[in-house]
Amino acid sequence: MTTLATSTGARYARILGTGSYRGSRVVTNEEMCTMIDSTPEWIEQRTGIRERHWAVEGETPLSMSVQACRSAMDMAGVRPEQIGAIILASVSHHHPSPALADYLARELGCTDPAAFDISAACAGFCYGVALAESLIRAGHAGDDGLVLVVGVERLSDMINIADRGTAFIFGDGAGAAVVGPSQTPGVSPTVWGTKPENVETIEIEHWLSGAGHDTGYPFITMDGRTVFKWALAEVTRHAARTIELAGIRPEELDIFLPHQANDRITDALVRHLHLPENVTVCRDIAEMGNTSASSVPIALDDMIRQGRATSGQTALIIGYGAGLTYAGQIIVIP
Ligand code: UT7
Repeated sequence: MTTLATSTGARYARILGTGSYRGSRVVTNEEMCTMIDSTPEWIEQRTGIRERHWAVEGETPLSMSVQACRSAMDMAGVRPEQIGAIILASVSHHHPSPALADYLARELGCTDPAAFDISAACAGFCYGVALAESLIRAGHAGDDGLVLVVGVERLSDMINIADRGTAFIFGDGAGAAVVGPSQTPGVSPTVWGTKPENVETIEIEHWLSGAGHDTGYPFITMDGRTVFKWALAEVTRHAARTIELAGIRPEELDIFLPHQANDRITDALVRHLHLPENVTVCRDIAEMGNTSASSVPIALDDMIRQGRATSGQTALIIGYGAGLTYAGQIIVIP
């Protein structure tokens, strides 16, 4: 019988560097409330959002990804030609094919990486980290075992300004991480899944339906209350399971960085997990709103660059959203 060769890679993987880019137009709640029937106080009290960043002309999903990836590669000390795979998570790349990851490979000057896009909405970056870790340990990430994971969104194109229940939430930006081989564990087992019975809770309409909108793009629709209830009832459980599978106790965690969807959801997660006061809780939503696939890596990069997350610390990252999908893991800060 013929025996095929199989591949094996590094024993462990970890994040080696991060980078991010925020859309350059800051839209405060005050400005937002000139467009929708709401008040700055209502928005801040219900969500924690004080302002969001919207991309201006020229700040495309590609250009924002390029900036984030260059910063991540600089921090990691790796060159574009060493990258063995690019995994890009987005729900706002407007061309079904080729993948944005392919354009990104060209812009960055990568030579021959595996490159593909994934659609897992707000869980996209954490899905990407899970895939990157698996590729590296399986030996599928090129000679140097290096994977770029990118989350990027330009959601301002798809906001329905007539829907005051969603218009104030979303923002634009990109976040990236270089994931590579490690001598020590740097990414815990991923807890991930989908809740199929709620598949239509958050949607982006069919692309063709966008033709009638001012932006030319389809709208995001969301039943916020259902997502909220699901997050409190179930994402809390998935977050607890992530800590358990990592083999640590909540008090051993240094940083809690959930998807930036709503500060009240973050508060509920903190309570449910019994996180002690010394755990740093990320609240990037105040400045960024909800940037879907890019919210976790943008916030992670910010914490590292501001010195609020330091090398060797542990962080629980967990993304959740449309699908309803979720994914969480504990990472070691580069
Ligand atoms: O990233 C993907 C994951 N997404 C999420 O996790 C989103 C989760 N959901 C949420 O964050 C919240 O559901 C929202 C922030 C979207 C909405 O907050 P809420 O506390 O769930 O509000 P609601 O939809 O239950 O509405 C409560 C009231 C309603 O009025 P009535 O029916 O009680 O009279 C709404 O009409 O608030 C009203 N309302 C507003 N009032 C002022 C809805 N939007 C606004 C607004 N300003 N912008």
